[in-house]
Amino acid sequence: MTTAPPDPSCQPDPESLRQGRQNAFLFAGAAGLAGLMFGLDTGVIAGALKFMGAELHAADRAQEWIVSSLMLGAAGGSLLAIPVSKHRGRRGAMFYAGLLFLIGTALCSLAPSIPVMIAGRVFLGIGVGFASFSAPLYIAEITEKSRRGKMISIYQLVITGGMLLALLSDSLLSYGGHWRWMLGILAVPTIIFILATTQVPYSPRWLAMQGRKHEAHGVLQKVRGSKQRATEELNRIEQNLKKTSGSGLALLKSSPGFRKTFTLGILLQMFQQLAGINILLYYAPHILENLHFSAQAAVWCTTLLGLANMVATGAAILLIDRWGRRPLLLLSTIIATISLALFGLLLFSHAGGSFAGVAIITLLVVFTLGFATGEGPIPWTMCTEIQPLQGRSLAIACSTFANWITNWLISNVFLSVMSVIGDYGIFWLLSGFNAVFFLIAYFLVPETKGCSLEEIEQRVKANLPLREIGLPLSPSKSSGTGQTVPSTPQKG
Ligand code: BGC
Repeated sequence: MTTAPPDPSCQPDPESLRQGRQNAFLFAGAAGLAGLMFGLDTGVIAGALKFMGAELHAADRAQEWIVSSLMLGAAGGSLLAIPVSKHRGRRGAMFYAGLLFLIGTALCSLAPSIPVMIAGRVFLGIGVGFASFSAPLYIAEITEKSRRGKMISIYQLVITGGMLLALLSDSLLSYGGHWRWMLGILAVPTIIFILATTQVPYSPRWLAMQGRKHEAHGVLQKVRGSKQRATEELNRIEQNLKKTSGSGLALLKSSPGFRKTFTLGILLQMFQQLAGINILLYYAPHILENLHFSAQAAVWCTTLLGLANMVATGAAILLIDRWGRRPLLLLSTIIATISLALFGLLLFSHAGGSFAGVAIITLLVVFTLGFATGEGPIPWTMCTEIQPLQGRSLAIACSTFANWITNWLISNVFLSVMSVIGDYGIFWLLSGFNAVFFLIAYFLVPETKGCSLEEIEQRVKANLPLREIGLPLSPSKSSGTGQTVPSTPQKG
């Protein structure tokens, strides 16, 4: 495929550039609603579980299935999203995600029985899997290179915002125990999301992959505000598509360096979940009520955790490019390990009274702050940074799958394991997982701050030790192009 050379007569004027940026921001914002839906649908269960458990006569094991069936759906959905977003486009995958959210919301809020509730949660999960693969990809493909990192981080922030909103609405509706409303109200943002997905254009990169060059050019012109820029970018996209024609599996076979980054991506995502954040976000009211908090106090405290999560994620976005990934991740794993160990100790000591109440909340907030400054955002960022372009889709799909499967596993067995090893035992176990996460971060995680993805790729392919793949190349070894390759999966 060849593309016409840039037309020198089409000099970009500042007004159309501004308009282009505004369009890109609007379209990326519409896709960002997927993050909000993701957060709302995963966060809503914490406040609703107790009330629905009572009405549907769901014992601990059934409650575990109700919580975790969404993760199982999401794991499957994140793999299924690859062919769907390839054949139907990222926009199509987001639209289907919206429909799945709607079906899931209807089934869950009207569920007359546990199996229907679980089926509804699986639908929501597949939607989350579709959304979590296709929305960041769409955002990356529609926004300018210089804004891409920030927009994807903001997407993470929107997820935590969705969780917080769900917890807030749970808290308000908890007074009458209105669990069906807690779930049903999500139909409103879902419909807005579906409508939004019908208004955004297809991603230009996907259009180019389909050979729909003319349309790709039209969309690029709309979001870059200049014909010339659109033509240049389309040329780059086409060159890039040629470079990534080999399969990720072939690279996995031939490159030991890629095998290492592939494994590191999976480890980071597994340990993010083993850190235990979702145990708190999904089960905190249950845990707190066992510790003699009232139902309302328990739901409000969980909302506080949601707030801490969102605030610290915002702080991490500001710090990640200044402090770097390693210091944030190391600090985060240390805070998480210590706070959970102390929390276990507090439960073990059976301390009571208002001091114990304050200490419980403080430790849980500290853990959440610790998680959100590193263990939360860094695995997602790093998984897009360390994988070579040819294997990026495969590696990201597999590490995302590992994330959801581990999430499913731990939320599926949490209550049962707690009944065997005790509440303190489970928090010591989680503290141990965080300590292992520290060791992984210390010995294996590279510092990728300020490093172009092209440099990282060269080092991965040269099979350097993982810790060294993020060090900047010396000028003589550098490709000298000064170019960075895009920071997200590039093939549908
Ligand atoms: C994790 C989610 C978690 C969320 C909390 C994300 O990075 O992948 O499982 O619920 O952080 O903010």
